[in-house]
Amino acid sequence: MRTIPSGLDRKEAELYSQLDPNQFPKHVAIIMDGNGRWAKRRHLPRIAGHRKGVEAVRLVVETAARIHLPALTLYAFSAENFTRRPATEIQFLMKLLHRYLKNELPLMHRNNIRLQFIGRSQMLPQEVQERMAWAKEQTARNTGMIMTLALNYGSRSEIVDAFKSMVHAAANNGGLDHLKIDEETVNRHMYTSHLPELDFLIRTSGEMRLSNFLLWQAAYAEIYVTKTLWPDFSGLHLLEAIQEFQKRERRYGGLNEPAPGGSN
Ligand code: FPP
Repeated sequence: MRTIPSGLDRKEAELYSQLDPNQFPKHVAIIMDGNGRWAKRRHLPRIAGHRKGVEAVRLVVETAARIHLPALTLYAFSAENFTRRPATEIQFLMKLLHRYLKNELPLMHRNNIRLQFIGRSQMLPQEVQERMAWAKEQTARNTGMIMTLALNYGSRSEIVDAFKSMVHAAANNGGLDHLKIDEETVNRHMYTSHLPELDFLIRTSGEMRLSNFLLWQAAYAEIYVTKTLWPDFSGLHLLEAIQEFQKRERRYGGLNEPAPGGSN
């Protein structure tokens, strides 16, 4: 008899029981898109979509933790969001985030979640940066799922930052002549060095783009795009996506061989 993790609702438990527990992704990343469209369809302001989007984050994070995903990374705000959205919307999103990081702490502890961040956070408002540091510290001793929020994140800037960091490290360690660069080294200098290899990338609301998200890390990830708008996405949708993941044959460029490093 398979053990169903506690806390799943009836439908989630039913779907979970059809999944192969040995074939779960180790690191799921989600491009949460469609808040604006969700609001527009209801003749509501865009911010209503973001507010509902936070509820979806709550549901998905809790289900992800309950099924013991090792890592979940959420694209909350891209670097482009900051430069291309009206100031009022950005201010609202920052307030939402500030509140989120405090209100969700009990949920994080209840589910043993460790919170991390990626992105150029130094450009976020001071009070948001302080709240981020606080939430990270508060959850640092949790030992379950690592939840990483991408805030003011852009993949190209991450790669630029990794180059800078490699050169800086070399300068402090015998000079550029000693600089040895291979994939391992690059991985260690990416923002995601604390995470397992990305194996599953989900995008909501139908667009077929990576939108400058985890370009390096997604090299071998399975990609799943659903038309469901982010505010309608739930734990059950996450399990449906994982069911699809388990149907994919992962070949890593070969015919049917094991993954680089030996895992699936
Ligand atoms: C995309 O919808 C969503 C965002 C730019 C923001 C994502 C934010 C949340 C899900 C809520 C806040 C999250 C946290 C963790 C506090 P869109 O506005 O681009 O939608 P559209 O493409 O339909 O216009």
